[in-house]
Amino acid sequence: MYRRPDPLSAMRLALYQPDIPQNAGTIIRLAACLGIAVDLIEPAGFLLGDRQFRRAGLDYIALAKLRRFSSWRAYQADREAGRLLLLTTRGETSYTSFRFQPEDALLLGRESAGVPDEVHAAADARLRIPMLPGTRSLNVAVAAAIVLGEALRQTGWRTLSTGRSGMPRKARGGWRYRSLPLPPGQGRGEGSA
Ligand SMILES: C[S@@+](CC[C@H](N)C(=O)[O-])C[C@H]1O[C@@H](n2cnc3c(N)ncnc32)[C@H](O)[C@@H]1O
Repeated sequence: MYRRPDPLSAMRLALYQPDIPQNAGTIIRLAACLGIAVDLIEPAGFLLGDRQFRRAGLDYIALAKLRRFSSWRAYQADREAGRLLLLTTRGETSYTSFRFQPEDALLLGRESAGVPDEVHAAADARLRIPMLPGTRSLNVAVAAAIVLGEALRQTGWRTLSTGRSGMPRKARGGWRYRSLPLPPGQGRGEGSA
């Protein structure tokens, strides 16, 4: 029987009071496919039984490692260890010049209003995806995918090793993993990213 493997990376995505169910569903699907856990900081603008949320997340919602927090305070008190990196259009650092660590949590703001100043100030770093002048913001799920991709690339993300059938291979003692190679000169601890 196929059993969901543990997350493949300690990195997490955190959603601050998301208000569009389709975006949250898309992000949870992204996380489930890449083996990343998701922290949901409530209140959300929809119920987890919402039809649009389920339609976007499909059966990946059941596969996702989802942790719910009733409030920002609860999240602060009980979240996993690691740096909190806020993705924000007001970020002082471009994500391309930031050095990520495997235990980082990438925090995404709500679609309608981002995050309040208190949350902005509590983050260990504030990262932006550079955009052209005159543009306001990216869709939150797109922003999550862009930065998560770079963060996993830098931190030597492992992926499940698959057999001929394309299904993950289970070895005695657990799942089989392989590390994705980085381009020459960009190994962990190399380069300036
Ligand atoms: C639609 S945007 C929020 C727009 C909101 N009006 C604001 O001022 O933050 C939703 C979330 O996507 C992420 N996001 C969107 N564009 C981004 C960018 N260029 N750089 C970093 N994060 C971005 C942020 O986490 C943001 O809070």
